Amino acid sequence: MKRRQFLSSSAAALAATAALLHWPARAFAQAQTPEVRLAMPPLLDTRTTGRLSLQAQSGSRSFLSGAATPTAGFNQDYLGPTIILKNGDLAAEVANALKVPVSAHWHGLLVPGEHDGSPHLPIAPGESWQPEMHIAQDPATVWYHSHIHERTAEQVYFGLAGVIHVTDGDDDARGFPSAYGVDDLTLVLQDRRFDDAGRMVYNPSMMDVMHGLVGNRLLVNGQAGATAVVPQGIVRLRILNGSNARVYTLFFDDTRPMHLVATDGGYLQAPIALDTLTLAPGERVELLVDMSDGGAPVLMSDPDQPYGVLPFAVDASLPARIARVPEQLDGVLGDLAGSEVETREVSLEMGMGGMMMGSRGFAINGRPYDMARIDFAVAQGTVERWHIRSTMVAHPFHVHGVRFRVLSENGAPPRPENTGWKDTFLVPDEAEIIARFDQPARHETPYMFHCHVLEHEDAGMMGQFTVT
Ligand code: C2O
Ligand code: CU
Ligand code: CU
Repeated sequence: MKRRQFLSSSAAALAATAALLHWPARAFAQAQTPEVRLAMPPLLDTRTTGRLSLQAQSGSRSFLSGAATPTAGFNQDYLGPTIILKNGDLAAEVANALKVPVSAHWHGLLVPGEHDGSPHLPIAPGESWQPEMHIAQDPATVWYHSHIHERTAEQVYFGLAGVIHVTDGDDDARGFPSAYGVDDLTLVLQDRRFDDAGRMVYNPSMMDVMHGLVGNRLLVNGQAGATAVVPQGIVRLRILNGSNARVYTLFFDDTRPMHLVATDGGYLQAPIALDTLTLAPGERVELLVDMSDGGAPVLMSDPDQPYGVLPFAVDASLPARIARVPEQLDGVLGDLAGSEVETREVSLEMGMGGMMMGSRGFAINGRPYDMARIDFAVAQGTVERWHIRSTMVAHPFHVHGVRFRVLSENGAPPRPENTGWKDTFLVPDEAEIIARFDQPARHETPYMFHCHVLEHEDAGMMGQFTVT
């Protein structure tokens, strides 16, 4: 929601106050140990080597004070490193030290189907996968995760995911914070379900599959109850909703604005000051937040039923390099409207009746996902307009291999969050997108399009297409 609307809404203001008052009582109450400082994932900078080496491995982590949970991660126990990429050649190697097949899908990288890491590119236990990639895209915050059909939800849940920064090295000229973990924070939001012993569990019931599995604790970068410590200046937050199903509506408890500067696929043309921001599974945003008042705001979610996501604290001894939010940005959004050669209907379906009768009822255009079926073929280099419908609930819709623009949502112009380049967005009842399909995907390694509620995806709300 844009700033003016929000401030004029007394209900929302009340909710923010309520959030503050009820903070310690919420189910997500943080700060058992408020002095714990939020850590960033380790950095894996590929810019000088042109090489990227990941290993999917098992681990164990005690997330809360209680028992340890068996986990999985890339190069570590849980989650993976933050990878920095620049345009050019990238020789990747992904090894699998687990006992089950995994894949490494680069969600948001514009690479051909054979490099995409889809369910058609499983890495067997003990094997490795070596895509020789070429990166050529605008700076963006993208991510990677395992994508084995019917196993994606569980594998991501236990840790097989990480963030990627595609950078062109010009952020200093843009006046953007760029010191990793100092004024440029990477935040992976994940809710997880913990049992009484403090173990993270994944045991979705039929209702969980229906609604998507939501947790009872919130982790940021795999940590519960940590505080982000930042300099007294402008801070950049790169936020990934890495949850299986939870949709966040983020806001600060003191109503300070969040300046949206980038969406999934790149920068905007100018920052948009927002008071609330909806972020569905798979989506990323980059925000600039002014911390120069030295305050200690809490990032919250859901004005209607507020809960804490991440408390902030200022450390004035940290270098504050940026003092103001730039007025203009250099994102190039282009205008695809009018050049489409094809329109398609995509209906995201979950049939209650089908579920009751034992079939799961999750489908797109009446057909559950089938690895052996190509749903349609796109002509490479052409523009298409897709009309997407959600049934029963709003579904976060994602397409591999492209970035798209949202033309409309329920017949109206898109929300501010959806005005930039996107690869994933929440489809209310219906929406239209437009994209040019430049990257190729052959029959053997097609691109996926699916709901990013991972339980829905695994249950069949996914399809696949070629680009030739
Ligand atoms: Cu983030 Cu097909 O996935
Ligand atoms: Cu993807
Ligand atoms: Cu869905």
